[in-house]
Amino acid sequence: MVLLSNKHYEGIAMTPKDIVERVTWLRKEIEYPNYRYYVLDDPVISDVEYDALMRELEELEERHPEFKTPNSPTQRVGAPPLEEFGTVTHTIPMLSLANAMEEEDVIEFDQRIKRFLKTDTEIEYVAEPKLDGVAVELVYEGGEFAVGSTRGDGVTGEDITQNLRTIKTIPMHLIEKEVASPERLEVRGEVYMEVEDFKELNKKRQESGESLFANPRNAAAGSLRQLDSSVTAQRPLKIFCYNIGEVRGREFESQWELLQTLPKWGLRVNPLIHRCKSIQDTINYYTEVNEFREEHPYEMDGVVIKVNNFELQRRLGEVSRSPRWALAYKFPAKQETTKIINIKAQVGRTGALTPVAEMEPVRIGGVEVKRATLHNQDEIDKKDVRIGDTVVVQRAGDVIPEVVKVIPSKRTGAEQTFTMPDKCPVCGADVVRLPGEAVHRCVSISCPAQLKGRIKHFASKRAMDVDGLGVKLIDQFVDTGMVKDIADLYYLKEEDLVPLERMAEKSAENLLQALEKSKHPSLARFIYALGIRLAGEHISQVLAQRLGSLNGFFQVTEEELLEIPEIGPEVAQSVVRFFRDRANRKEIERLQKAGVKLEEEREEKEEPLNGMTFVFTGVLEEMSRNEAKDLVEDLGGEVASSVGKRVDYVVVGKDPGSKYAKARELGLTIIDEGEFKKLVGLA
Ligand code: IVH
Repeated sequence: MVLLSNKHYEGIAMTPKDIVERVTWLRKEIEYPNYRYYVLDDPVISDVEYDALMRELEELEERHPEFKTPNSPTQRVGAPPLEEFGTVTHTIPMLSLANAMEEEDVIEFDQRIKRFLKTDTEIEYVAEPKLDGVAVELVYEGGEFAVGSTRGDGVTGEDITQNLRTIKTIPMHLIEKEVASPERLEVRGEVYMEVEDFKELNKKRQESGESLFANPRNAAAGSLRQLDSSVTAQRPLKIFCYNIGEVRGREFESQWELLQTLPKWGLRVNPLIHRCKSIQDTINYYTEVNEFREEHPYEMDGVVIKVNNFELQRRLGEVSRSPRWALAYKFPAKQETTKIINIKAQVGRTGALTPVAEMEPVRIGGVEVKRATLHNQDEIDKKDVRIGDTVVVQRAGDVIPEVVKVIPSKRTGAEQTFTMPDKCPVCGADVVRLPGEAVHRCVSISCPAQLKGRIKHFASKRAMDVDGLGVKLIDQFVDTGMVKDIADLYYLKEEDLVPLERMAEKSAENLLQALEKSKHPSLARFIYALGIRLAGEHISQVLAQRLGSLNGFFQVTEEELLEIPEIGPEVAQSVVRFFRDRANRKEIERLQKAGVKLEEEREEKEEPLNGMTFVFTGVLEEMSRNEAKDLVEDLGGEVASSVGKRVDYVVVGKDPGSKYAKARELGLTIIDEGEFKKLVGLA
């Protein structure tokens, strides 16, 4: 593979034909490793090589915007926001599936089919997991992704092409290495989110004070319904394809043949698909999948059983909007009934009050549950949940259990309705609900509940990174009144600390040292640490990059913030409000007085490692890998995870791995930790 960096173009005149050829070549060259990585889970090139191809394409498109196309891999970051979604009429309606809960329903399904086809011989089926996500249709014309839509009502769905372009497991061009692509392909599948990714997303949302998604399905649906596709691009969505609509230029004889062909075009198919010789085989498959589904990376709500042969499917046809040839055999729900003993409002870091139901303990999917979230007052009203009610509770995607619904027939008349308190249960300050918001909030910024949460966030690893400041200590600081705001942390003295419970002299010293060490965060970390509502880690980075200094934050207006691509009106308002607030300004001033000083401001910052790529291998003795990485990045350099030609320095520690050998083979510059320290100005 020939890698040309930007510099190679200078001085060489490229004709439009050269550019088109190069751009087309690059897109294919990027699409293939994408497919190997995302679809086959079997990478063929290193991150460094991939990044180099991507950068070259970006540069070429930047210089020659006339050759940009919406399906270019560079466009996966999202397009300008839409006013509303268009509609798409499906050429062939997207049907739904008949459900079965019991084994006998499945046997009955098989018998019905045999009766209908007037046969005694066993029917061959294909069984596949039923994913709990969002059904979509992708249309490829001449192998190019053209339109993508939701299922909608089955006949007409919403045009979510822009959003689907951001999903890396959806190819923008069909691969033609083994099988030619058809003239037109309508392929259907499920967009979903893995449970771990869902938890991570919710964690980030919690940290930035955004509302949480109830389960991975809602998170996937919410992410796909964004009018701004750059938001979708940030969400960890994936797809599995399982069905077709209209196809021109290629015939399939069976579901199995289809599922074997789709991956050859780069379309992801669930590896758990199974060919079954009889209905009994499908039941065995169901039992097997049910056994491991709890440990599986994504949620499955059942198994879909389909007649394999397409000719038989055609003969069987459909009845009341569902095919006669398919059945969804559902897993038992992770739901139980129990009784609500009380409902309490819990106060979080951003002051949001969340109603939590305290219930008689019940085991759901092997876990004891005694509390469940009721989300907010609107949810309580909508579901009409009362204290004393018998309710259905479910654990969705392993998160906080939620109350699904009330069983009204179990009511005795003694149930009591719940309304959010108008005073904060922790500090007694007023509770308000702002227009347009679902949540109630405590207005006091000195509310101990908020303060504890804010300190915890402020000190956390990805914020100010104050080692050793745990929850118990924070409780003591706040409860004894030693710490009344975040800045107070930096005014603590050893003699204040030692008398505290479980605080030896040594740990007091350590904590003070950790606080001292935390005093020079980057602007982005500092902004994130302040815990501004809606400003999570990523948004804080975007803002810091744009505004460059703390002063920039004090002066910026909502209008100016709205000019930044990823910033919407809510974030803009929240940030401006935060920095206009007098108490907040004073707190920042006190932090500065205590010696908190941000890394030098962007304009003045030297970036001596600009354009240089580093790779680390082996154990460093005087700093951690992460510290070394931060150092390189702070000085404008980049750290790659694997060795390639573009790497400028390979830093070798103790017991280096295979990267060392590869680096020598490629003749790269190899340095040790001491030389690295000199390079970054530490020695
Ligand atoms: S086949 C006519 N296969 O289930 C057959 N559907 O109730 C159409 N689903 O809207 C669907 N995993 O969202 C099929 N492996 C799978 C599926 C699956 C999930 C969903 C799909 C559809 C719903 C039908």
